[in-house]
Amino acid sequence: MFEYRNGELYAEGVRVADIAEDVGTPVYVYSKAHFESQFSRFDSAFSREHVISFAIKANSNLAVIGVFAKLGAGADIVSRGELFKALKAGVDPSKIVFSGVAKRDDEIEYALVNDIMMINVESEDELNAVDRVAKRLNKKARIALRVNPDVDPKTHPYISTGLKKNKFGVPYDEAYDLYLKAKELKNIDVYGVQFHIGSQLLDTTPIYDASKRIADLMRRLMDKGLEFRVVDVGGGVGIVYDEKTEKEPDVNLYAKQIEEAFEGFDIKLVLEPGRFLVGNGGILISRVIYHKTNGQKSFLIVDAGMNDLLRPSLYNAYHKIAPLKESSLGVIKCDIVGPICETGDFFARDYQIDDVPNGECIAVFSAGAYGFTMASNYNSRPRPAEVLVEGDRYRIVREREMLEDLIKGEYL
Ligand code: LLP
Repeated sequence: MFEYRNGELYAEGVRVADIAEDVGTPVYVYSKAHFESQFSRFDSAFSREHVISFAIKANSNLAVIGVFAKLGAGADIVSRGELFKALKAGVDPSKIVFSGVAKRDDEIEYALVNDIMMINVESEDELNAVDRVAKRLNKKARIALRVNPDVDPKTHPYISTGLKKNKFGVPYDEAYDLYLKAKELKNIDVYGVQFHIGSQLLDTTPIYDASKRIADLMRRLMDKGLEFRVVDVGGGVGIVYDEKTEKEPDVNLYAKQIEEAFEGFDIKLVLEPGRFLVGNGGILISRVIYHKTNGQKSFLIVDAGMNDLLRPSLYNAYHKIAPLKESSLGVIKCDIVGPICETGDFFARDYQIDDVPNGECIAVFSAGAYGFTMASNYNSRPRPAEVLVEGDRYRIVREREMLEDLIKGEYL
């Protein structure tokens, strides 16, 4: 949905340079059509009953959550704030699952009061907390244990979660006993099983392996009288950031493998995709402020920084970058950096790009997931605006922050 026509970048039917001119930079630009088509590709890959609970940590703009809610999606949330946003965006509470390593009592209460589908519990302490809060509210809490299947997802260590050494979930070998314990708790309704082994998986075989391990655990527990109504297989399906080196995972194969692993179980599947739905549906537009050369190295200094898009700095992640207007100035090799006072403030290093004159814009691609949601006000920089494109129209779905926003709630 982002393509060059007559040498200029378009988002669906809109010339991206017009958005930059009108709304200013930096600005995130999203394509609604991309979101819809990714959702439909994912959805139609499954043939058995399922719910797609969009992991809103990937992109929690109200309008974006709203696009998926309209398509029938639920939400995977990890905090009280995300539950608040999901409800505001119109997500059906019965399709909301609550993930996260440690939920506070007030968060558990908020989830129970809103009657969400289930809470994914990650430890014995947390199970006791959910039971205690549910008892106080005179409710029975639907839960799944997040089981850590100890399967290597073969992705970046910071976004691997399914190994024994990670802090996530209940260790596979302990899950059996904890389920038996959960069954005896008065205010707990053992509703499902959940696992999530990592993010940006280009090969989904580890999810298949984990599914088989989980199915085996379920069989043993069913022999003990446990009844499961859902299996939540988490998210993690990757996207292509670099066309030269990466290949998109086959979602049909992914769905087939999961369905095969849970064949014969009378359960509903829950899926928690984040990045797959939104990653390539967003770009970050930034204006070149200066060119600079220090001895051997050249820098293209742009008006977005690591506070606006953290992924390159934090994970050394690759994002394709290109000028909004194809130029005939020739290719330069440079570091593309922001104005922030950190050496780690870069979007790309030793990158070959068609030179862009000062004052013109670049697009950082694949920025729809974990872009704005990881943005901060570091260096007292107002966070960028967000724009949603729909056909040949666009609208601001989050205003650029103002200077006044930087002191909101502060006292001298
Ligand atoms: N479910 C759970 C329990 C998760 O922890 C995550 C992501 C997801 C679903 C969604 O995963 P996805 O489908 O988006 O891969 N900030 C990092 C990614 C962190 C992912 C954290 N958990 C990045 O920018 O790459």
